[in-house]
Amino acid sequence: MSLYNIARPLLFGLPAETAHRVVHQALELADGTPITTAIERQYAVDDGRLTVEAFGQEFANPVGVAAGFDKNAEIPGVLGALGFGFVEVGGVTAEPQTGNPRPRMFRLREDEALINRMGLNNHGADVIGERLARTDTQHPVGVNIAKSEHVDSDDAPADYRRTYEQVTTGGDFFVVNISCPNSQGFEALQNKESMAAILSELEDAGAGPLLVKVAPDLPDPAIEDALDIVRDLDLDGVVATNTSTERPSALRSKNRAETGGLSGKPIEGRATRMVRFVAERVDVPVVGVGGVSTAEGAYRKIRAGATLVELYTALVYEGPSLAREINEGLLDLLEADGFDSVESAVGADL
Ligand SMILES: Cc1cc2nc3c(=O)[nH]c(=O)nc-3n(C[C@H](O)[C@H](O)[C@H](O)COP(=O)(O)O)c2cc1C
Repeated sequence: MSLYNIARPLLFGLPAETAHRVVHQALELADGTPITTAIERQYAVDDGRLTVEAFGQEFANPVGVAAGFDKNAEIPGVLGALGFGFVEVGGVTAEPQTGNPRPRMFRLREDEALINRMGLNNHGADVIGERLARTDTQHPVGVNIAKSEHVDSDDAPADYRRTYEQVTTGGDFFVVNISCPNSQGFEALQNKESMAAILSELEDAGAGPLLVKVAPDLPDPAIEDALDIVRDLDLDGVVATNTSTERPSALRSKNRAETGGLSGKPIEGRATRMVRFVAERVDVPVVGVGGVSTAEGAYRKIRAGATLVELYTALVYEGPSLAREINEGLLDLLEADGFDSVESAVGADL
């Protein structure tokens, strides 16, 4: 029985955000201590077949932590020690934000899902940028950049640029979040003109590698528009997908009616379809995220065209051994299908 099997009922007795804070603080305490080395010995899977190259970076394995888990870039090192090949920190905004009133994060236990309406609470680009500049990790750290709450879409390009300029030193790649369902004014950003204005402003600031993160709820033509911009501006990748504002009828938990973005198992198929849709249309790496909780799920996204995968919600349900389980499972799946590396399986189903 793993330690998490014992800890989980205790954590699940707390409100979801409090439980997250407890776990986060425990990891923060471990960061940089000999415990981190011990964690790494237990959880890291060191196998060259898992190594992936994407947008000029080398990843020891394709499994990363999605944005939102380490919003303030406090624990990228220890998350790497847990076996993750990379961490996407943030979303970061130009100024500190407190986010929406609590409660704002809900477990849907029966559905292995979460609904959150955090509203981009974070310490702000200045503080996070300095923290990142002091952080030395062996794995790539991406920075998720979002629009400040009270900035309207006309001023969004300058707002994103300001944030980027403060976090540039410590980031290895940058993800432009234009798809947050929980903060004011994001819908207006998901039209072609606004997206192009933001992304060209960031290119002008020298941002790169530069990726864009899309919502799972966008209709096909809107995704096509986003992909036109990826091609036109020569962007480096696409993260698919963010949380969903839709509520599949199969949801059973009482919290299903909460407002916010749905993540976890119920969006898995949808996110994988989006990965495929994107990978069929553009020639840049796709980061597949949404409902990944097993090696099989990660492998489905890889075969659908994802070079890298990320997860958040499954960490809540499965605990800290998840990266190791997925990486070990991926090696078995690759072997069973005759692939000699993750890279050779990327897009096998296209
Ligand atoms: C509590 C919470 C906070 C999140 N915050 C962010 C964020 O700040 N920026 C962002 O781009 N995505 C954010 N996400 C979305 C995740 O990065 C991911 O796209 C989504 O949860 C789907 O993955 P999952 O099913 O593995 O959780 C957040 C998700 C959760 C559950």
